[in-house]
Formats: sequence, C-alpha cells, structure tokens
Amino acid sequence: MNLLLDAVQLQGRIITLAAEIERDYPPDEEIHLVGVLKGGFMFMADLIRAMSSRVTLDFIAVSSYQQSTRSTGEVRLLKDVDTRLEGRHVIIVEDIVDTGLTLTYLQDILRARAPKTLRTACLLSKPSRRLIDVRVEYIGFTIEDKFVVGYGLDFAERFRNLPHIAVLDQG
Ligand code: IMP
Ligand code: MG
Repeated sequence: MNLLLDAVQLQGRIITLAAEIERDYPPDEEIHLVGVLKGGFMFMADLIRAMSSRVTLDFIAVSSYQQSTRSTGEVRLLKDVDTRLEGRHVIIVEDIVDTGLTLTYLQDILRARAPKTLRTACLLSKPSRRLIDVRVEYIGFTIEDKFVVGYGLDFAERFRNLPHIAVLDQG
C-alpha cells in the first residue's frame, strides 16, 4: 500500500473545511451533521471537533458495495436517522464520492424530509468516475481513480483504522 494523504494533511484540510462550513451559516443557527456509516465516521469525528458553532449529529447507514472495489450501483438503506430533519440546516458527511450514486440517493431521501438547507461534505472525490453529476459543496481532496483505504474507508471491512489514506494495490 502506498501512502496518499498522511494524518497531518488530513487534519490540516479538515480544519480549513470546518471554517469554510461555519462561514456559510448564520452564527446563531444550528448545523445538523448526518454522517454516512460506516466510512464517514472518522471524518465526522474530526470535522465536528474542528467546529465551534452549535452542532448536532446523527448517522445514517447505506451499503452499495459487496466486498468489491467497484460499485454495484445498488444502494440500500441499512439505518435511517433518528430525528426529524424538517426545518434544519443539514449537512451530509461522507467519506468519498465516486460514481455519485450513493450521494444522489441520500440527497433525494433527505431532501424529501424538508430540511431548511441540505448540503454535502465529502472528504475525498474521484471526479473521473462520476456517473451522476451530484452536487457536493465541500470537498476535502480530489484524487485520481485509485481505490483508497484508511481513515474510515475499507476494503472488505479492513483498513478502516489506518490514521492515513493509502492506495490499495490491486495486483
Ligand atoms: P459511489 O456511490 O460510487 O459514489 O460510491 C460511494 C461509496 O463507495 C463510498 O461511500 C465508499 O463507501 C465507497 N467507495 C468508493 N470509492 C472507494 C474507495 O476508493 N475506497 C473505499 N471505498 C470507496
Ligand atoms: Mg461510504
């Protein structure tokens, strides 16, 4: 495996991203972060600690990959959020946007709950693989078409614990 982004690079970018997000909302209004399990949990944990405004959080779980490095194109909702989104400033917090299928699905179902605003923050983006032109307001890093693991991202449930992002060798 080859190192792509080390822990210092990740933290630095996340601090900037948190500041960008906070600048975009009125200071007295609550921001509700919806983390996408499982991959988004580490990004969520660091992003929320870099924010000083009023924030609340929840998680949603979807599955789109069956132990493969290519999307099956089918998105399944495994766990819904616990609280109502109506009238709230909602930000989806996801690990990576690849084809865009997962985020399009999530944005559609969350938008239907009438949040006051709905935006998306993704740590990584692989634009060359996009099948749907999904809107992502906050992107940490744009990367090439390589399968990456670590910092929450897995291959067959492995490597989520790495504190950095690495490129998986696909021999
Ligand atoms: P999309 O629906 O194709 O945009 O895929 C998004 C989901 O696929 C992400 O939430 C990840 O869970 C997974 N994914 C896409 N690319 C990678 C990768 O390079 N490493 C690990 N997971 C990935
Ligand atoms: Mg994911």
